[in-house]
Amino acid sequence: MARKGKPQEVTEVTEVSEAQIAVHWKEEEYYQPPERFKAQANMRDPRILEKFGLDTFPDCFKEYAAMLTWFEPYHTVLDTSDAPFWKWFVGGKINACYNCVDRHLEKYGNKPAFIFVAEPETEPDVAITYKELYERVNAMASLLRGLGLKTGDRVTFHMPMVPELPITMLACARLGIIHSQVFGGFSGQACGSRIHDSGSRVLITMDSYWRNGGLVDHKANADIAVRTAKDLGQEVDKVLVWQRYPGKYSSKTPMVAGRDSFVNDLLKDHKGRKVDPVPLPSEGPLFLMYSSGTTGKPKGAQHGIAGYLAYVTATSKWILDIHPEDVYWCMADIGWITGHSYIVYGPLANAATSVLYEGVPTFPDAGRPWRIAERLGVNIFHTAPTAIRMLRKLGPQEPRKYKYRFKSMTTVGEPIEPEAWRWYYNEVGKREAVITDTWWLTETGGFLGTTVPAIHPMKPGSCGPGAPGIHPIIYDETGAEVPKGSGKAGNICIRNPWPGIMQTIWGDRDRYVKTYFSKYNKNAKSKDWRDWPFMCGDGAVQAADGYFRILGRIDDVINVAGHRLGTKEIESACLTVPEVAEAAVVPVQDEVKGRVPEVYIAVKPGVQPGQAVIDRVIKANEEVIGKIARPKHVYIVPDMPKTRSGKIMRRVLAAISNRRDVGDVTTLANPDVVEQIRALVQGKDTVTTQEALPEDIAQFGQTE
Ligand code: WTA
Repeated sequence: MARKGKPQEVTEVTEVSEAQIAVHWKEEEYYQPPERFKAQANMRDPRILEKFGLDTFPDCFKEYAAMLTWFEPYHTVLDTSDAPFWKWFVGGKINACYNCVDRHLEKYGNKPAFIFVAEPETEPDVAITYKELYERVNAMASLLRGLGLKTGDRVTFHMPMVPELPITMLACARLGIIHSQVFGGFSGQACGSRIHDSGSRVLITMDSYWRNGGLVDHKANADIAVRTAKDLGQEVDKVLVWQRYPGKYSSKTPMVAGRDSFVNDLLKDHKGRKVDPVPLPSEGPLFLMYSSGTTGKPKGAQHGIAGYLAYVTATSKWILDIHPEDVYWCMADIGWITGHSYIVYGPLANAATSVLYEGVPTFPDAGRPWRIAERLGVNIFHTAPTAIRMLRKLGPQEPRKYKYRFKSMTTVGEPIEPEAWRWYYNEVGKREAVITDTWWLTETGGFLGTTVPAIHPMKPGSCGPGAPGIHPIIYDETGAEVPKGSGKAGNICIRNPWPGIMQTIWGDRDRYVKTYFSKYNKNAKSKDWRDWPFMCGDGAVQAADGYFRILGRIDDVINVAGHRLGTKEIESACLTVPEVAEAAVVPVQDEVKGRVPEVYIAVKPGVQPGQAVIDRVIKANEEVIGKIARPKHVYIVPDMPKTRSGKIMRRVLAAISNRRDVGDVTTLANPDVVEQIRALVQGKDTVTTQEALPEDIAQFGQTE
């Protein structure tokens, strides 16, 4: 039961400067973890955060490494000699696939590793035991090796949510091949540019998959991806195509002779073959995961084997509270970091049974997740605020109809409003489950901010303190610490390295240093980790109790339904339309998806503004990025609001889109255009509200 805790005092600050934004918000009450949960939790030591205090750093993380099975022990916990390119558990030899599969065979061989749930409800669930997983991963590894792929090569995947995806990932991990999975919903072009950046010569895809009641022809994207990569200078020799229904080709796109093969055909020669897991150096790369940032070019976050695996294994055990007996379901997509860390590597390293669902949560109705949970006996559930908001909107009382029982639930990817949190707690969790609100990033491998569920009370809307061994700090623009309880927000950073942190941006060491460290590093030559706080790119505020509240991205990234989209990427997609002269993208609040992009364009002289141009802009976004980048609206404006130096004032557009007062625009080069745009977007009547904008939107474009 929820128990009312003492609300904390929050000093209200009225002075607002660009560096320190006053954040006015109501303190939420605490919810205590149920006794039943506490009694069985993996981590019950109330002194855990002290044990992982900075005074024990980095040796405290030996406990994480001890959760793994090593071929050869490491000699150095943390090597800082190439700061800030941290090396963890140096000297060790290890294999991620061995840790996720082989080592469980004896004890858990007959237990399902994955249970695959197809989107059509008529298709039966498919359970894959650890033994079967071992067989299938070995056969796939044998196939990959047969193609000449070896340790250090990169292979790009463009796969949907099917068991063949983790099987292929683990097969790569077995050989030390670096996998780079591109989210299945990204377009062929987006996949192609990532193939090029990673230098992959092999693309692995699937012919089709189910999404929202339709069988999507996915192979078509592979041809676009290969063409895009080639235009950029990267040849793809082989396209391996999994079949959604083995033996049957469910795509209308022809196979290209000499380049394309069906995985199921090739596998016939590898059935029963065994491939020894390669003992790899701890700091060998495991995978790349591309993510958006300030510029138009996505960056390939490179994660290493031992540090990453140790981090996701320990956090899956202590925060998600996975025991081998649990049935765990994370509804994220493996195409994002959450799926890599907390559907595949973390849960499997803990010998979990991990549910893998192909489709959309609300197909065919908002009761679907709860039916699945009841049928499979899911007791740990993990999803994103967008899914929570959607399920709440479409079926607020659906969970009551089903007899599942969750002990632990997680939310990830976006800030969650206290209202949505409470529905999750009361209705989905039936007031019996703990909730961890886990804040982290693609770059960080695993959780940064979260409660340890049996120890800390929950507070809706706040992720909690730093995870064990993670020491966040909020800095203002000048590098001064913003004290907790001050009510002021700033840039949240992590004081210390941790094993899950990315190793570098693939092929771009400078960008790694610049993006995450430059702002607050005072000595670029320092080999001392204390000089290298990691800048996460989020605004945050810390309450007096030490809990952090994450306000959102500060780097022109829009978080759409938990997916990071760079505004520069969307703008350059718009500019591929020949009629478009200028484009500006702004985030708009959305009741379900959190934020959605709205696009403003100015057309070239002589071009007829009209629906045809708008349609081309929408299509361009779908082709260059994917359907997730589809703007909510596209407005054709007579001119962009600009400063005298010619910069587009995106924050004026953001105010208009979000129905807020635009403020003083008299200093603009063309103040008159603001009213014209406002009338175009909002209609003749003023419909602005005085309510404060959420900080990420208020901050949007401030750096311009
Ligand atoms: C946001 C997803 C509030 C944040 C794991 C971060 C969150 C970005 C939370 C990273 C949370 C993630 N509360 N905001 N619990 N979790 N975010 O790389 O803005 O896809 O910087 O990683 O999502 O998104 P990414």
